[in-house]
Amino acid sequence: MERFDGRRVLITGAGSGIGQATVHRILAEGGRVVAADIDAAGLRATAERAAADGGGDRLVTAVLDISDEAAVRTGVAAAVSGLGGLDVLVNAAGILRASHTHETGLDFFNKIISVNLTGTFLMIREALPALLAGRSPVVVNFSSTSASFAHPYMAAYAASKGGIQSLTHAIASEYAKQGLRAVCVAPGSIQSGMTLDPGLPEDADPSLFGKLLPAIGKGFAGPETVAGVIAMLASQDGAFITGTEIRIDGGTHM
Ligand SMILES: NC(=O)c1ccc[n+]([C@@H]2O[C@H](COP(=O)([O-])OP(=O)(O)OC[C@H]3O[C@@H](n4cnc5c(N)ncnc54)[C@H](O)[C@@H]3O)[C@@H](O)[C@H]2O)c1
Repeated sequence: MERFDGRRVLITGAGSGIGQATVHRILAEGGRVVAADIDAAGLRATAERAAADGGGDRLVTAVLDISDEAAVRTGVAAAVSGLGGLDVLVNAAGILRASHTHETGLDFFNKIISVNLTGTFLMIREALPALLAGRSPVVVNFSSTSASFAHPYMAAYAASKGGIQSLTHAIASEYAKQGLRAVCVAPGSIQSGMTLDPGLPEDADPSLFGKLLPAIGKGFAGPETVAGVIAMLASQDGAFITGTEIRIDGGTHM
């Protein structure tokens, strides 16, 4: 018996990095998955890997921009209909852009908030009716170590992730009596598309970051490190965990 046998799972940001690794982890544990991302090429790579590893027959991919309200409404409805319900929502989609705060335009700030924070809210709002009708429903959101520790040049990103933590606490409390759990993962120092090029300003002062290296391991960890924690949280192994953050950064921040 696999932990995700019969579980119906919707994962955003599934065309790259941690979202893609989570798709493969949940397929490997028996789940049925709708993998959504704005990037069609990334989703093709996710599907090709699933076809090679096994579990591809339990995967459907869907191009979706989580910051587009109408598209989220249609996309979540299609996912719920295809899966015959919904038990787990993993909101991994996100963008990182860095800049000096005094040079950050409103469009730049709003773009990061609208994808990371508003997009996470829209996905949750549209998925909630199906989740509350599901079995042991779980929402896994993505915060970041930048929400709780100083990451210069990332004011918009850090604010969006702090907002996601607050949103997670609110829904965890609001729907607990209906059996829903809501948890954040707060990764840091994980290899992904995002950390390959965080887009720091050319004149960024490295001394402002302090020591941004994991205390354990040999540098940044692979995205499967986070996927394993998500699988634990979204399964019955995480049944007594809700309304909190799990930091996964190899001890970068202690
Ligand atoms: N890698 C790290 O160290 C780290 C640290 C803290 C938080 N995170 C968070 O982890 C999550 C996954 O990021 P990752 O590190 O795997 O990076 P990634 O760039 O590899 O993956 C992010 C995915 O989100 C998708 N995406 C972007 N905008 C979208 C939109 N509007 N609609 C739908 N999909 C969209 C991208 O196409 C991409 O496939 C993000 O929320 C990120 O903020 C990562």
